[in-house]
Amino acid sequence: MSLIDLRSDTVTKPTPEMRRAMAEAEVGDDVFGDDPTVMALEERAAELLGKEAGLFVPSGTMGNLVAQLAHLARGQETIAGREHHVVVDEAAGHAVVAGTSIRQLAERPDGTLDLDELRDAFRDPLDEHHPVTGLVAMENTHAHSMAQPLTPAYTARVAAIAHEHGVPLHVDGARLWNAAVALEVAGRDLAAPADSVTFCLSKGLACPIGSVVVGSREFIWRARRARKVVGGGMRQVGVLAAAGLVALRDGDAGMIDRLAEDHANARRLADGLADLDGIGSPGGIAQPEPGRLDPARVRTNFVLFRVARDRAAFLAALRARDVLMVDYAHGQVRAVTHHGIDAVDVDRAIAAVAVALDETSQPAAAAPATA
Ligand SMILES: Cc1ncc(COP(=O)(O)O)c(C=O)c1O
Repeated sequence: MSLIDLRSDTVTKPTPEMRRAMAEAEVGDDVFGDDPTVMALEERAAELLGKEAGLFVPSGTMGNLVAQLAHLARGQETIAGREHHVVVDEAAGHAVVAGTSIRQLAERPDGTLDLDELRDAFRDPLDEHHPVTGLVAMENTHAHSMAQPLTPAYTARVAAIAHEHGVPLHVDGARLWNAAVALEVAGRDLAAPADSVTFCLSKGLACPIGSVVVGSREFIWRARRARKVVGGGMRQVGVLAAAGLVALRDGDAGMIDRLAEDHANARRLADGLADLDGIGSPGGIAQPEPGRLDPARVRTNFVLFRVARDRAAFLAALRARDVLMVDYAHGQVRAVTHHGIDAVDVDRAIAAVAVALDETSQPAAAAPATA
């Protein structure tokens, strides 16, 4: 039986078509601006998101970092949700590399910020004691709320508040296309209010490596320079961009529309898990109310839950049955659906969870004494 790896959508492998495109890609030295495949990818990403220009970077983390470096001066402050990836999962790059701070606001269970709190979070630029607010950041989908998609209307409200204060809005859209598909809106509708957006090719879109940052031509020039600072200028990198161009094709030829299958499979998984004794609400902002896991919380490709078991023992018992899930924030377990996982795999995973719950319901029997 094959392994069912639900730890993340980053475990996806390039499709045969991507591998072919990578092998045949026309390449050049991208630091000289000579790689036609990278340029085509950057143009395609910018076109899809309605921005002037794009920049290919190796990772979502670097995309967010170069955006911060491009938007902010040392000593400035970003306003962001306290559970955002830039706050908790990027090794404090904002402080270590960009020399900035983050003013953290509590997110709500739908992944949004309270807009009155956002308004109050801007610093007084005339007070010499304060850092100067230089950026507002959003995350879409919002991972810790069980990957809720945030709407164009909400994004527009956040952008309007940022812009009233003369501050740009950056969207960490590592899974922006999941949000677009779940909300049945165009990517450019989600991106339109923002000044810059990063999205990942290496997650649900199944490319091996890469993210793209988009924004105005002038912003992208600064981001390109920032990418050089952090060592992200790459050479014949069209071999990677080629996979991205396959992923961003329209319709069935690309990888965006099929994300709907991942969302349906995540919902199927949650429906199956919710019935099992020992599976409960994930808590945190993913589902604050205690009780059973609520499958209606699954809007995209994340399923978060808690187990009434020793979590490490439960995950090990699952692994022994060839199903991988991962520990996540607030004592949760995370399962993520993606390309390569179908409904049959989901049903096998549910059955494996039932057995793993059973196997870990009692303390392990004492090992027999040995002579
Ligand atoms: C919301 C979010 N932003 C950014 C990233 C960073 O992406 P990468 O792993 O490519 O650095 C991730 C990765 O999981 C993410 O979930």
